[in-house]
Amino acid sequence: MKGSIIATALTVSASTVLAAPSLSARDDITPITVKGNAFFKGNERFYMRGVDYQPGGSSKLADPIADVEGCKRDIEKFKDLGLNTIRVYSVDNSKDHDECMNALADAGIYLVLDVNTPDYSINRENPGPSYNDVYLQYIFATVDKFAKYKNTLAFFSGNEVINDGPSSVTAPYVKAVTRDLRNYIRARNYREVPVGYSAADVDTNRREMAEYMNCGTDEERSDFFAFNDYSWCSPSSFKTSGWDQKVKNFTGYGLPLFLSEYGCNTNKRDFGEVASLYSTQMSAVYSGGLVYEYSQEPSDYGLVEIKNGKLSDLPDFAALKSALAKANDPGDGGYNKTGGPNPCPARNAPNWDVDAADKLPAMPEPAKKYFENGAGDGPGFDGDGSQNAGSQSTSQTTNGEGNTVSGDLSSEANAEGSDGAATGLQIPSLTMAPAFVGLVTIMSTLVGAGVVLI
Ligand SMILES: *[C@@H]1O[C@H](CO)[C@@H](O)[C@H](O)[C@H]1NC(C)=O
Ligand SMILES: *[C@@H]1O[C@H](CO)[C@@H](O)[C@H](O)[C@H]1NC(C)=O
Repeated sequence: MKGSIIATALTVSASTVLAAPSLSARDDITPITVKGNAFFKGNERFYMRGVDYQPGGSSKLADPIADVEGCKRDIEKFKDLGLNTIRVYSVDNSKDHDECMNALADAGIYLVLDVNTPDYSINRENPGPSYNDVYLQYIFATVDKFAKYKNTLAFFSGNEVINDGPSSVTAPYVKAVTRDLRNYIRARNYREVPVGYSAADVDTNRREMAEYMNCGTDEERSDFFAFNDYSWCSPSSFKTSGWDQKVKNFTGYGLPLFLSEYGCNTNKRDFGEVASLYSTQMSAVYSGGLVYEYSQEPSDYGLVEIKNGKLSDLPDFAALKSALAKANDPGDGGYNKTGGPNPCPARNAPNWDVDAADKLPAMPEPAKKYFENGAGDGPGFDGDGSQNAGSQSTSQTTNGEGNTVSGDLSSEANAEGSDGAATGLQIPSLTMAPAFVGLVTIMSTLVGAGVVLI
């Protein structure tokens, strides 16, 4: 019986492959893995040389991976710059992405993908209701679409959700989503695509956030950490920019670290930071980064201008290309081969308002079925959104034994579940105008480095 089912399955997939040979995921690109505090491509250390790719800007929701023509046009420019990575902020998970992903793979380019959209994301103003099964269905469906591509380098579980001290109370939700994504990847038997968080350029709790994402049980910890950094404004230096101090600060950190956005545009950009980023000044701690951003948008960070589908280079294009061409990867770069966890940071309100002993919210019960059955069709950009949909988490867990779902908790955790549900998970005070996570990029884009609060 088993045998005949397998035979049927093989026949079906074989005929599918025959009918559409170009639509399967490319096999001849080496997936990126994590070793200690570094990324590896096979046996070679991998440094991200990338750009943030959101043609249309952060205020217009678009999926550049579903736009085959635009993607193929831009890949030529990525190759010209010498890139190996792009980051995309949102994808429409109802669309097909095979053609662009395969074209990227053919060019040796990997994708770092934010799984959220403005309508499907954790709401920092009121995270509890936004962490629900409808939200998880969206991001799991996105994983279903992208985990199959060997050039999917990593998933961002969140982007700039915490954007000041007080909003750090949302951190347990960010960490829970990171955990759920990785558990989903394992439950569905996908390749272990690394999962981590992209932090805002906030000095007051950058280090705590990084430590928080790397403390606790292995199941709770991230696979990497990334942050945005606009503090090197040309002309500057390793010392003047303060990047030397950041390297010191993160020395001994046990996860791969990279810049998810960089490239201060206060002055004319010479991308002097590139020489430091890909040298032994930083390589023991950093694994490269992503320049903000590929296309010219109202925030004025563009390398190229796209008008009516036609491209033209801006001065920053040549400046970045030349800086990257001069910077050679420093081999294994003195990376930390063991890596590993650190203690959870102590509460230090208002900058860091999470207790080291706080548990994470358990995964909302109805999302458990996706682990067994898959997430099904993604609703895409036209979906109804998830901010106040579905069922929220009803208990907390330390999830050391894989118990990430409320109903699966040990009896001890269950006993705390009902009356202790909100302990340690305070609703953040409303100190800012409501802004959904996916839209926060707009703010950081518009005000640039000025987003640093307090
Ligand atoms: C280093 O980390 C500490 C602790 O978070 C922080 O107070 C300090 O500002 C950091 N220094 C730099 C240069 O980032
Ligand atoms: C390597 O990382 C581990 C875990 O964070 C840390 O304990 C150790 O001190 C690090 N080693 C070096 C040489 O930085």
